[in-house]
Amino acid sequence: MIIARSAQELQDALQTMRGSIGFVPTMGALHIGHRTLIDAARKENECVVVSIFVNPTQFLAGEDLSKYPRREEADFKICELSGVDVLFYPDVSAMYGEDEVRICAPDVRGFILEGASRPGHFDGVLTVVMKLLNIVRPTRAYFGKKDAQQLSLITQMVHNFFMNIEIVPMDTVRESDGLALSSRNVYLSPSEREEALKLSASLKRATKMVMQGNTKSSEIKASMESILSPLDVEYVTIVNRSFRFLDEVVIGDTIVLVAARVGTTRLIDNVWM
Ligand code: PAF
Repeated sequence: MIIARSAQELQDALQTMRGSIGFVPTMGALHIGHRTLIDAARKENECVVVSIFVNPTQFLAGEDLSKYPRREEADFKICELSGVDVLFYPDVSAMYGEDEVRICAPDVRGFILEGASRPGHFDGVLTVVMKLLNIVRPTRAYFGKKDAQQLSLITQMVHNFFMNIEIVPMDTVRESDGLALSSRNVYLSPSEREEALKLSASLKRATKMVMQGNTKSSEIKASMESILSPLDVEYVTIVNRSFRFLDEVVIGDTIVLVAARVGTTRLIDNVWM
């Protein structure tokens, strides 16, 4: 595995390779969810690039940038054992200069839900993903459905800027008890982890209601909220794939989303229907 620490080093490494490039951008603290993305990239492409970069511009003041889990040695091993060809591991100065041009999230889709809770977050995500996609120039890039709004905005950016890259959405990976895998799960104490199961339990309830023929968003949300209580719930909502709010679930075009704070940890989860 080649480790590249600058755009130039990455491009030099890629020059020695042939065929399609599968790209998995990450912020490190790799878990089985990331492994699933890397495995899919490995299966579908000749060459696999993973980036590990804790992007400062997507963290708001007071968020967990300084304590975001960093596990260089373990992450490098996971990449190596997963058959990654090139690991892109830049520092902040290799990615950002002074007074730069940035990508802005769209007015509506970028400023509801996660965008409302974390103003400016998606500008940072889109800016760094644009940089990464331009450096790697992949054939396919792999993103998890757990960050559904991020995935939707990245797909829109690639379309709006006529970028010739296939964005591949990948299902959320869960622990056997339903907890969605997230690098931030390490912040949870054992009792908080127990409480956190309410997120996936509420989504299971939503799925069950829809399977039983109840597609009314207001009723599904009320039922989910009763399961989530007494967590500090930020939102429970039902949107279509373009992030327009739905009064009724439309099978094949619906995402049910939840965001809640468990202790001091903010967790998100969703189910695609
Ligand atoms: O989902 C993430 O890990 C990050 O938001 C991403 C896409 C790597 C950009 O920093």
